[in-house]
Amino acid sequence: MNEIIVSPSILSADFADFGGAVREIDASGANWLHLDVMDGCFVPNLTFGPPLIRSLRRRTKAFFDVHLMIVNPGWHIKDFVDAGANLITFHYEAENNPKKMLEDIKDYGLSCGISIVPSTPVSVLEGLLPYIDLALIMTVNPGYGGQPLIPECLEKVEELAHMRKNLGYSFKISVDGGINEVTAQNAIKAGANVLVMGSAFFNSSNKSELVASLQG
Ligand code: DX5
Ligand code: ZN
Repeated sequence: MNEIIVSPSILSADFADFGGAVREIDASGANWLHLDVMDGCFVPNLTFGPPLIRSLRRRTKAFFDVHLMIVNPGWHIKDFVDAGANLITFHYEAENNPKKMLEDIKDYGLSCGISIVPSTPVSVLEGLLPYIDLALIMTVNPGYGGQPLIPECLEKVEELAHMRKNLGYSFKISVDGGINEVTAQNAIKAGANVLVMGSAFFNSSNKSELVASLQG
């Protein structure tokens, strides 16, 4: 449970050069790559969908950590599977039948994750914990990179990490939003295993040192 994974988010990359961003991520020593899919409805922003992921799939062996910030995520799961996702995380707030959705993702042979926004309590996840590979705790309100972490969200990470330990589960806890060298340490202390990093990664002048210092 102590292994730390850095998952750089291409949301903070130059959108005219995603190929270059993938090369930078591979060169940094990070094994995961976080893909923020936004629909302009669940969140105000719009990003990209399966065609981009399919193109990037041909350029890297990185583990594709796909974060769906979209309504009706179930309509699109197969497209993301076919595009080359390794893990699909959807939002609890966007899905009426999250348990079925988790099972559907697993049936495709992928890892499954569920995410909650800052205003959603951890307690809603309780009945779903046996089915998840990852819980993504948003540490900012989803939609944009470069926002400061909301400190109360790390209390939710702590609460979830206690539940994980007490109930004997081994799912990963991912934190997403405002994670940098400083806040990462607090997130790890709270029990996070996966650190999503957008702006802090792409603004770093020494990405491999950054990743090595966190992955240990
Ligand atoms: C925000 C996205 C994040 C974003 C994080 O809605 O889900 O993955 O890329 O960016 P930073 O690390 O800049 O907060
Ligand atoms: Zn994300």
